[in-house]
Amino acid sequence: MPTIENGSRTREFTGKRALVTGGSRGIGAAVVRQLLDAGAEVLTTARSATSTVPEGAAFVAADVRTRAGAETVAAAVRERLGGVDILVHNAGGARPHAGALAIPDEEWQDALELNCLASVRLDSLLAPGMRERRSGAIVHVSSAAVLTPVGPFLHYVAAKAALETYSRGLSLELAPSGVRVNTVTPGRVATPGGEETREQWARLDPAPGGTGPDATVPLGRDGRPDDIADAVLFLVSDRAGWLTGSNLVVDGGEFPRG
Ligand SMILES: NC(=O)c1ccc[n+]([C@@H]2O[C@H](COP(=O)([O-])OP(=O)(O)OC[C@H]3O[C@@H](n4cnc5c(N)ncnc54)[C@H](OP(=O)(O)O)[C@@H]3O)[C@@H](O)[C@H]2O)c1
Repeated sequence: MPTIENGSRTREFTGKRALVTGGSRGIGAAVVRQLLDAGAEVLTTARSATSTVPEGAAFVAADVRTRAGAETVAAAVRERLGGVDILVHNAGGARPHAGALAIPDEEWQDALELNCLASVRLDSLLAPGMRERRSGAIVHVSSAAVLTPVGPFLHYVAAKAALETYSRGLSLELAPSGVRVNTVTPGRVATPGGEETREQWARLDPAPGGTGPDATVPLGRDGRPDDIADAVLFLVSDRAGWLTGSNLVVDGGEFPRG
């Protein structure tokens, strides 16, 4: 079934209600925009609203690192959408440190809260509704950093690795009710957060080589937010109706795997 007609995506998500975390910029904003273009009703969240929240999306300010933040988002979903058919856990990130042993306790805690527990909590609040309705699609956004766990990012990498394992396990639990759960793993993507993190990393270690901040991507360019959004939209669409528990790596060929 073609999804692009006359240069624009068909409105295949008409009637679908979606929550996207971290939709105020970068990859999350691209996912929000593509879902809106395809006809979905979209609620997004970040700690604060910005001019880059796509027009047409509902917005709730919340810090998803906390249980209270997750409850605020779940309440907004009930109030603004009445429930959710598509759940995209995109908010994430972390600051690099001088090495694995230099990462302070509170940064480990922060990385785990944002990159893993935020998804666990929101799923626990919103996925039961999907299970009752016997339909829904969830995507967790991980990172190709998991494939090369370098010291400056071990807190982030470990949290994303936990997220991937959790995502696979949740897919098995929800499969009997028809709810699909998948992971998208981006490589290096040009976003405000991604660029800032790589600049911080380059200041810590100007010449790490290999997979460092200046690593080259075999397909010749960094990813664009829409490259990742395309993968997310496929996974939450009916075209991926027989896909669950998968991990789609979208990295321009940086980490070939079997
Ligand atoms: N860009 C890359 O190269 C890359 C590579 C691999 C994986 N990823 C992953 O892709 C996802 C998106 O990355 P990105 O590069 O688009 O990031 P970004 O440009 O930093 O945007 C992150 C979004 O998440 C929100 N956010 C951050 N902390 C939050 C919190 N505590 N509570 C609620 N919202 C929060 C931000 O808004 P506020 O700051 O206002 O809260 C913003 O809307 C992340 O999970 C990241 O780990 C990115």
